[in-house]
Amino acid sequence: MSSVDDVFHRPDYAKDMAKQLLRPTAFQTNIRSGVFLSGIRRIGKTTFLKQDLIPALEAEGALVLYIDLWSDRSLTPSALVHKAVQQALEKFNTPSSSLLERFKGLNMGAAGISFGFQIDSVGSREGTSLAQAISELIDKTGINVVLIVDEIQQALVTDDGNNLLHALKAARDAVNAKPGDHGYFLFLGTGSHKSLVTDMATRRSQPFMGAMTTTYNPLSEDFVAWKIAQLQASPDVILPSLEVAFSGFQTMGNRPEELLKALVQLQSTTISADQAFPIICATLASAAADSELHALDQFGQLGEALFTRIASGPAEGVSRLYGAESLEFFSKRVNANVEAPQVQNLVEKMIAANLITRSGHGLYVVADPFVREVWLGKQVLLAI
Ligand SMILES: Nc1ncnc2c1ncn2[C@@H]1O[C@H](COP(=O)(O)OP(=O)(O)OP(=O)(O)O)[C@@H](O)[C@H]1O
Ligand SMILES: [Mg+2]
Repeated sequence: MSSVDDVFHRPDYAKDMAKQLLRPTAFQTNIRSGVFLSGIRRIGKTTFLKQDLIPALEAEGALVLYIDLWSDRSLTPSALVHKAVQQALEKFNTPSSSLLERFKGLNMGAAGISFGFQIDSVGSREGTSLAQAISELIDKTGINVVLIVDEIQQALVTDDGNNLLHALKAARDAVNAKPGDHGYFLFLGTGSHKSLVTDMATRRSQPFMGAMTTTYNPLSEDFVAWKIAQLQASPDVILPSLEVAFSGFQTMGNRPEELLKALVQLQSTTISADQAFPIICATLASAAADSELHALDQFGQLGEALFTRIASGPAEGVSRLYGAESLEFFSKRVNANVEAPQVQNLVEKMIAANLITRSGHGLYVVADPFVREVWLGKQVLLAI
């Protein structure tokens, strides 16, 4: 491999988000209740967090703890968080550690900070709570602590995960509700399961209800231009125009890996690049959507009818899925009488499978808009 940077950086987007997290305006203060960032699969969420957002937060003087709940399936979500917090505290406690070095402007002294609790007891049953540990850290240093939990939806599926969310909320309240000028505890959860991630901030039963929800900005034309410019350096390379490349990228759901696949396939084209590229992209998009749509098979005919109803409805969402008109539609499709509870039950299952999602009160959409596009395109072909 050459030494080209493999990551397209998004410093402005990162700076903007870092600023909102650390220095919210009067209109943005619910950010301090927590932020839930969602986006469909494989569009660069994790890359953005690690490559751009964390450096931007650190540049603003924050301590960032990043945890991926899928990183080690042998550890529970709370064990992963406790470990990260303990490691950070340990570094503040170790004379001349790199972390102390980073914050040396804050008069902490080279000897480090001592805490009024055993660091390795943080999170243990009889030990120190996350709230206690994090408030003491912030009290003693005055810094902002940002905890980023990737694949946050994973915390919803176990009691351990739910306990963790309650413990994090308690930590947030212990720190952020204090009056006066002080460091804050910011929580950012991300994931690709839009319904679950959004539920965490909107459902009354959830500890983070009232937190902010937001959507990850997918990569755009500047990313495609960067990729094309990078490839242009190779001898005899066949490349599409930027316009055609970007449109193909969008067809494939703004997914960097798919773009690269399409560009590789383009190298064996015998027709003009701009003619071949859209075909390659459409084919790849359709293959990717098909593999997502496989998840539909397990829901039978009614599942397919439900998906059809939602996918072919308005982009902002389909309402009255349990109304007479919908039930008649379903009954016709499956050739049997369909009742509302049956549909309700299936809706919940298809949300859990990340095929559909709630877009608002009583509104449902296809979870991945790109899958919907491809699906709609196919229906047009089938109708011919
Ligand atoms: N800014 C970028 N520059 C270059 N490549 C990128 C960039 N962002 C993402 N990619 C590539 O796209 C792929 C998906 O990225 P990433 O894992 O960050 O996405 P994700 O949205 O977190 O995916 P998942 O839904 O699986 O968690 C990776 O191969 C990654 O290298
Ligand atoms: Mg990811």
